[in-house]
Amino acid sequence: MPLLVSISSLKGGVGKTSVTLGLASAALAADMRVLVVDMDPHGDASTGLAVEDGGTDVGTMLSRPKKFTLSEEIVPSGWNALAEKAVMERQLQNEAEDFAEDDEEPDTEDPAEDAVDTAEGSAIDADSRAEEDGESNYDELDEGYEYVTEDTSAVEVEYEDETANPDLDTDSVDEHQELTNPARSRCGSVDVVRGSAATTGLESLTLKKALPRLRQLLDGEVEDYDLVLIDCPPTLGRLTSMAWAASDRVISIAEPSLFSVAGTERTLRAIARFEQNSEYSVGAASVVINKVQDNNPEHNYRIEEMTTLFGELVAIPSLPEFESFQRIQGSAYPVHFWPEPAAQDFAQKLTDLLEGLLN
Ligand SMILES: Nc1ncnc2c1ncn2[C@@H]1O[C@H](COP(=O)(O)OP(=O)(O)OP(=O)(O)O)[C@@H](O)[C@H]1O
Ligand SMILES: [Mg+2]
Repeated sequence: MPLLVSISSLKGGVGKTSVTLGLASAALAADMRVLVVDMDPHGDASTGLAVEDGGTDVGTMLSRPKKFTLSEEIVPSGWNALAEKAVMERQLQNEAEDFAEDDEEPDTEDPAEDAVDTAEGSAIDADSRAEEDGESNYDELDEGYEYVTEDTSAVEVEYEDETANPDLDTDSVDEHQELTNPARSRCGSVDVVRGSAATTGLESLTLKKALPRLRQLLDGEVEDYDLVLIDCPPTLGRLTSMAWAASDRVISIAEPSLFSVAGTERTLRAIARFEQNSEYSVGAASVVINKVQDNNPEHNYRIEEMTTLFGELVAIPSLPEFESFQRIQGSAYPVHFWPEPAAQDFAQKLTDLLEGLLN
């Protein structure tokens, strides 16, 4: 069973969608299979994930849950082709390195025998290596490469500024892959249950009717995933309640500002009330502090305040304000695959946050 996590805050603009996308990116870089459920009527997570057309949106499905089978309506994100391409490039590079190492082996005594060995050797070595890896890498490689070549074009994102297209610098992408995950073998994915304005209609349902709906929709349909991230709207309406009822854990996003501290207190109180007044439990709650500026005395003060108020609920690490994040999101790109070195520190923090969540 996957871990189901709601990303919430009763305050708007604090970074719910950004943290959802950041955690999805971290999981993708770790070869995990992720499903993002976009519960926000604005559908920002769906936009940021460059979702392809198709699939019924979550609002329509939740209006008539018995009519739909969730797994048939899930759509792949545009990030998947990028991850597949990176894995293929990595595998090709590994194979090339293996062959180069074989070439460096010392000569045998009989040069004629050696020549015959070399002619046959590559195929034999390739087969035995594939066997050692448990599967035929070569078959996978060939099939996969064709698939990626076809698929990549389908999810091409248009960049206003050509230099914003990280594909232009594939060397750096490779370098970053190595940093995030040196031994990539299987490919992760991020799929999406699309969001749309249709979710607003659900706010008029009675709480009793609304609460179990998302849980029922997900039930038995998400077993193939490692992680389900639910991006919530900034209100404690039916949508957020449905998300909490379906979750193992709720993350409340906070900024280091007075209003956001107050908003986080309200969110945590709302979670406690929700658990008291319903048959559902959210399991665990945590507070992720986002958009922290270096050497900002007000931010330092608010972080200390939140640590005092919320204690162990405050997740480590907090996330800095990262200047390029908007540009990366604007390119519908996973931050872990962004080639600029400055993105690596930020990506690592998201990876650490994800590890903390999973443990
Ligand atoms: N760590 C960060 N560094 C820099 N910018 C950030 C960071 N986190 C979020 N942002 C930016 O802050 C803005 C608001 O973020 P986001 O849309 O994720 O918030 P939200 O809580 O989902 O908003 P809403 O309540 O409208 O759903 C976006 O422009 C986003 O790019
Ligand atoms: Mg949002």
